[in-house]
Amino acid sequence: MKYLPELFSANARWAEEMRAADPHFFTELATLQSPAYLWIGCSDSRVPANQITGLKPGEVFVHRNVANVVVHTDLNCLSVMQYAIEALKVQHIIVCGHYGCGGVKAALEGPPLGLIDNWLRHIQDVRDRHADFLAALPDKETRWRALCELNVIEQVRNVARTTLVGDAWQRGQPLMLHGWIYGLADGHLQDLQASMKESAEVQPAIDLAAAGVRSRYMAD
Ligand code: CO
Repeated sequence: MKYLPELFSANARWAEEMRAADPHFFTELATLQSPAYLWIGCSDSRVPANQITGLKPGEVFVHRNVANVVVHTDLNCLSVMQYAIEALKVQHIIVCGHYGCGGVKAALEGPPLGLIDNWLRHIQDVRDRHADFLAALPDKETRWRALCELNVIEQVRNVARTTLVGDAWQRGQPLMLHGWIYGLADGHLQDLQASMKESAEVQPAIDLAAAGVRSRYMAD
């Protein structure tokens, strides 16, 4: 192998280990995937969906972008969601952010970075929506952590408000949404208590989750 041989040899070892553990693993997966989860996470290399959840290939459908943002005109994300909901019939959509997110930090503090500022604008909308709360926090680090959490919650709201999720709930398809955050420093996932499984739960769940963030930080 001419380029990046170390990755190909690591791949060969991995495939052999998987096959040794379960001789049918690849042949079965090749014909069918039926993941129960759609993961919408950050592109950050330190937050790999499968590894941090202990899920194997075939068990989680994944979409990642800078700062786990769900935008109503993003055909890439919407196409992933449509396939996950309508074809794969996932039962859970997890929006997972992480502390220490560079995208969130850039949205919070600048400086201008060019093209990506148009993407980060969506996180600045979240920042502006919670401006009073964020301004009351003691320092930059705390504001950054809080905005990482609030961004997850607002993106869960965006997922809930897509026609894809609304239609699924309308036809009675079981589908639950969740907002989680991952700690780079300790490897632990935390549930931000923004779970919902029908349209009537969206606003109360979002309000409760956002209130949870505010009360945790104000208590500190
Ligand atoms: Co990130």
